[in-house]
Amino acid sequence: MKKGILLLFLLLFCMMGCQSRVKDDKTAVVYFSATSHTEAIAKKIKKKLNCSLFEIVPKEKYTNEDLNYQNPNSRVCMEHLNLFQTVEIEPMNDFSQEDYETIYLGYPIWWGFLPKVVITFCNTYSLEHKKVIPFCTSESTDISGSVIELKTLLPNADVEHGKRFPDGTTQKEIDDWINEIQKEGNENMKIDVFVNGKHLSATLENNSSAKQFYQLLKEQPLTIQMDDYGSFEKVGSLEKTLVRNDEYITTSSGDIILYQGNQITIYYDVNRWNFTRLGKIDEAYRNSLKELLGEGSVEITFSVLKK
Ligand SMILES: Cc1cc2nc3c(=O)[nH]c(=O)nc-3n(C[C@H](O)[C@H](O)[C@H](O)COP(=O)(O)O)c2cc1C
Repeated sequence: MKKGILLLFLLLFCMMGCQSRVKDDKTAVVYFSATSHTEAIAKKIKKKLNCSLFEIVPKEKYTNEDLNYQNPNSRVCMEHLNLFQTVEIEPMNDFSQEDYETIYLGYPIWWGFLPKVVITFCNTYSLEHKKVIPFCTSESTDISGSVIELKTLLPNADVEHGKRFPDGTTQKEIDDWINEIQKEGNENMKIDVFVNGKHLSATLENNSSAKQFYQLLKEQPLTIQMDDYGSFEKVGSLEKTLVRNDEYITTSSGDIILYQGNQITIYYDVNRWNFTRLGKIDEAYRNSLKELLGEGSVEITFSVLKK
């Protein structure tokens, strides 16, 4: 009898151990690495997420001699100096970008910025509407210059601030970083909306457009001149175009909506069109939102909710 119970426990223990982690089908790690430092990080990210991994491979692989940037005649120096030269990459037939919502994009820093093969990748795959999380390795340069470059190359993607990893980064450090990103992704995104001296709060949607809007507000509050349109909304221009998650929507009072990627609206009445939901005003007195917003042109300030 005792033996039977012991065997049952052993069986259960084995089943738990053998159970593979859930595969993250919506995320892919895509990387370029000439001397394996970035590859090591990419593999740790893949291990943590149990997701797909794709390598960006130059058509003509770099030899050690090619990579010697101390030599002004080396291949990398020639490519760097010739501003208009592009570097071709092998076709990535297995990478169908429509399968993924999030791309971890990794590369070494070359002369402060992206290696040209990564530029070719971005020009080949627009990564529209994807969340792009950059990561890099380097001797010392930080990631910020390359992230600005990525934002220009991928205007319709939601490019996050990313992270540089030094040599010797451990699996635990990668796991902690990803846990932090996932926690931020699940964060209840609450914002303040100030209008006509009144304070309202709003909750943002869980989509990439709202997350991008929230990131903008984290950088600084946005004050937007908003005007009435069609007797159902106040509308104003965002300086930046956000990624769109358009769907056919019937609006109701309190909806905060993105129109054509760069117009923000607050609805006080019904309209139907293809829009992106950004969020909703929380307050109960949204029934009288029209009066609260007032007549004509108003300045409305959006900022991250102060706790
Ligand atoms: C052409 C070239 C340019 C580089 N430029 C920089 C740089 O501007 N700043 C820096 O900190 N490291 C620079 N490095 C060092 C690489 O970023 C670093 O060794 C990186 O970890 C290599 O990654 P990999 O092994 O995945 O290719 C450069 C390396 C090469 C080959």
